[in-house]
Amino acid sequence: MYQNILIESLDHYGRGIAHLDNKVTFVKNALPNDVVDIKITKTYSKYNIGEVLKYHQKSKERIPSPCPFFDLCGGCQLLNLKYADTLNYKLNKVKELFLKNKINYNKDIEVIKNPQNFNYRHKLSLKIKDNKIGFYEEETHNLIAINACLIANQTINEVIQNYQSLNITNGELTIRVNQNQEILLIINSQDKLNINISELKKKVKLIGIVYNNKLVYGQDFYYERLFNHLFKISYDAFFQVNPYITIELFSLILSHIKENNKVLDLYCGVGTLSIIASLKAQKVYGMEIVPNAVLNALENAKLNNKNNIEFFLGDVSQKLSKLKLDVDTLIVDPPRAGLSKKTIDYILKNNFKNIIYVSCDINTLIRDLKLLENKYTLKEYKILDMFSCSYHLESFCFLESIN
Ligand SMILES: C[S@@+](CC[C@H](N)C(=O)[O-])C[C@H]1O[C@@H](n2cnc3c(N)ncnc32)[C@H](O)[C@@H]1O
Repeated sequence: MYQNILIESLDHYGRGIAHLDNKVTFVKNALPNDVVDIKITKTYSKYNIGEVLKYHQKSKERIPSPCPFFDLCGGCQLLNLKYADTLNYKLNKVKELFLKNKINYNKDIEVIKNPQNFNYRHKLSLKIKDNKIGFYEEETHNLIAINACLIANQTINEVIQNYQSLNITNGELTIRVNQNQEILLIINSQDKLNINISELKKKVKLIGIVYNNKLVYGQDFYYERLFNHLFKISYDAFFQVNPYITIELFSLILSHIKENNKVLDLYCGVGTLSIIASLKAQKVYGMEIVPNAVLNALENAKLNNKNNIEFFLGDVSQKLSKLKLDVDTLIVDPPRAGLSKKTIDYILKNNFKNIIYVSCDINTLIRDLKLLENKYTLKEYKILDMFSCSYHLESFCFLESIN
């Protein structure tokens, strides 16, 4: 055990940093200026992972966590800070990373706040183990049983509180909800199907259940209305988890599209950004790998009376180079892995006037910005607090061709 250790700063994953025997040690739930006793739980060649055994002095910034599962769950790392401090933490993290990686951006960075920093998630994936529901403790299969999740929408929490009606002993449950509080359940389990649907329907507006990828009740999709547009979303299609920040993202997209733009929207999901861009653009093309998402995108274009959009099904890395499109503005909103080498090469070869890069992973975003920097200047960068209470952040970038 190490005693009376001063926590020096916070790392990019929301962990406290201390130096023990000259080795950097990352400590969960430890804030700068906490003085703590630490037990090392894992040792690696360059760093240690530690755990707080006792707090001797607590940081002035520390607040009591509003979630009783904070210490064990690991899903949210910043619940020991005030909301304003979590936003500062994210801002400083981006500034540090920009500086370290020599990202050429000297303007102030705006952080777009989440108007609802608790109960904002409209999708939650949970584990069910030995008849208990919750999350796995970090890097283990130990289930932390919960009866509510502070960042989940309240109707999702009602499903958690009534999960016994599902009659599942072991498996995985994903709960999706729209702003009408309609619930779609996606279950994977080896257990025999025996859900007490009528019991569940007394508690929530259940609209569908997909069990091991088969529709067993109602419908396997839901609708969401955002930004005055209606989106159909299949059970296996991506949709942003936070509707309150998604409308801010839509606004940013729209304000960066011009009337005569011809837009290519890569990783387009159910067509959201394509449809928003088409409000101004002359022509929009979208590309997405999940078949149901592309079917949704085609239907969503019709639902919203958009007739200037075409969607393509395919893997961006494979299909992109085969398409010959007349496009001046590129939108990319990739998964956390960012852009593949092939996609970067394609972008470098094609002279797009502008690129709108939406990213949920700051590290891969910075890697990609470096690869693009000889041909594109970062004109505008904003943080959107899509994932409040956690160290994750959403970025909006507007790039302009140097030529
Ligand atoms: C972060 S989401 C963005 C979706 C959409 N822009 C939105 O706002 O809802 C990333 C999307 O990329 C899709 N995707 C992942 N890998 C892909 C690939 N190699 N090619 C095409 N689409 C891919 C995912 O299915 C997902 O819909």
